[in-house]
Amino acid sequence: MTRPPTQPIRLGVTGTDTGIGKTVVSCALAARARQLGLRVAAMKPIESGVVERPVSGSGLASDADRLRAACGSMLPLSVVRPYLLEEPLAPMIAAARADVAIDLAVLDSALAQVEQDVDVVLVEGAGGVLVPIDLRVSYLDLFARWRLPLLLVAGNKLGVLNHVLLTIRAAETAGVPVRAIVLTSLSDHNTTVAEATNFDALVTLLPTYVILRFPWVDRPDDLDALAAAAEVGGLDVLLSPSSP
Ligand SMILES: Nc1ncnc2c1ncn2[C@@H]1O[C@H](COP(=O)(O)OP(=O)(O)OP(=O)(O)O)[C@@H](O)[C@H]1O
Ligand SMILES: [Mg+2]
Repeated sequence: MTRPPTQPIRLGVTGTDTGIGKTVVSCALAARARQLGLRVAAMKPIESGVVERPVSGSGLASDADRLRAACGSMLPLSVVRPYLLEEPLAPMIAAARADVAIDLAVLDSALAQVEQDVDVVLVEGAGGVLVPIDLRVSYLDLFARWRLPLLLVAGNKLGVLNHVLLTIRAAETAGVPVRAIVLTSLSDHNTTVAEATNFDALVTLLPTYVILRFPWVDRPDDLDALAAAAEVGGLDVLLSPSSP
């Protein structure tokens, strides 16, 4: 059992792209936090590309379902994910096409519920930092509004150096600190020279940043396997009470 932090650890989980492991890393961190005796809650403020399942329906779990399960959360899905949009598009477009207006006050009040009585709060964005929520608000604006330091999940492939540097520059401009960069494996083996050299390149390019590695997990639905991967990747540093 780890000593709970005096202030909750709060992270906005963003990525270099869509589909590069934000939810997997968030679930792994949540599962590891629980192993360490911490109370954890997560939120996916807006999720697009998900059709609400009938009660008896099956199929692939949504990000909100996966986050909720990893946290062992009793919060209703309507709080974990206040907005659900069917089309797999950026929220601004999916919402406009569904005639939905995203109300930041609704998101604020959901976050307030998510943050109650927990030691760790994770908020997963969609895609990367500048994905538009509406014409005026991006995910970076939302993370800034909520004073969430970023956990930048970076998919290990050719092009990631550029995407990480762009993300960091945008975060700096917005005054949002980057707590750590997690370079995630996108397959069970490093096949290209880029994949084999990206980690060292990031360490060289960004010597003042916390840069971690997250391995490929054969069974990403297995919470013990995810927690073990988080531990192997050194993600415990993110759960330390002394974390800024
Ligand atoms: N380290 C990993 N080990 C095993 N599978 C992974 C890993 N990273 C990603 N995946 C798989 O890749 C797919 C995309 O991952 P994930 O859902 O975490 O991406 P995401 O960045 O959260 O996407 P989105 O932008 O849609 O929220 C999933 O099927 C997931 O299981
Ligand atoms: Mg996701």
